Amino acid sequence: MKEYLPWHRHPFDHAIITKMEGWLSDKEADVLYRLAANCTGKGAIIEIGSWKGKSTTCLSLGSRAGAGTHITAIDPHTGSSEHGDVDTYAEFLENIEKNDIKDMVKPIRDYSHNVGKEWNKPVELLWIDGAHEYEFVLQDLDIWEPHLIVGGVIAFHDSTMPGPWKVIEDRLYKGRNFKKIGFAHGITYATKGKATPLRNRGAMLLRDAAYGLWKIKKRISK
Ligand SMILES: C[S@@+](CC[C@H](N)C(=O)[O-])C[C@H]1O[C@@H](n2cnc3c(N)ncnc32)[C@H](O)[C@@H]1O
Repeated sequence: MKEYLPWHRHPFDHAIITKMEGWLSDKEADVLYRLAANCTGKGAIIEIGSWKGKSTTCLSLGSRAGAGTHITAIDPHTGSSEHGDVDTYAEFLENIEKNDIKDMVKPIRDYSHNVGKEWNKPVELLWIDGAHEYEFVLQDLDIWEPHLIVGGVIAFHDSTMPGPWKVIEDRLYKGRNFKKIGFAHGITYATKGKATPLRNRGAMLLRDAAYGLWKIKKRISK
């Protein structure tokens, strides 16, 4: 069985993503790489929201260092409400070609709920970075979570935004289906499995403290 890659000690070279357009910090890129590298191949790796392929690249390189599961990259490529009138598909394809990960990626140009309704395979890693409004984040969770295997991981980007924040608080920290909840920069991730409510509450307090400190640091550095 493949050994888990230790936190912060893996061969992910950020040079490949530094010039890519997107919103992931280096630390968040590490989290994605590590989560994908730790997949065992028991289920698919699903990306909801690819934009121009930055997170797709982190997941692909991580998975390649691990079990080699393909990344199913779902995005209509017409942007979210905050992006205006865009079409990111050509640049996405160019980037996955340039980053030499074409063999790792199965792009699906569609909305996550359309794909999710037809999906019938197990999922081991579910990365949610599509539309960030509350109802869409909740919809992604409700449609895709049943496919996530026990021991599989769910991860949300922009988890301090109001939509993801509320879904994560209600369904992960206060819910019954997730444990080992972690928070790194804007990513919240958790393992599917029977929750220990007290531990999850503790994790929520730690999250609040970490986020509070980060906001103070940001204010000071202005
Ligand atoms: C914040 S961007 C994703 C950024 C990307 N993960 C990265 O690392 O660069 C959000 C993306 O979600 C896509 N999107 C919006 N609604 C969606 C939906 N219902 N299903 C899938 N993707 C969606 C948009 O087209 C946009 O490309």
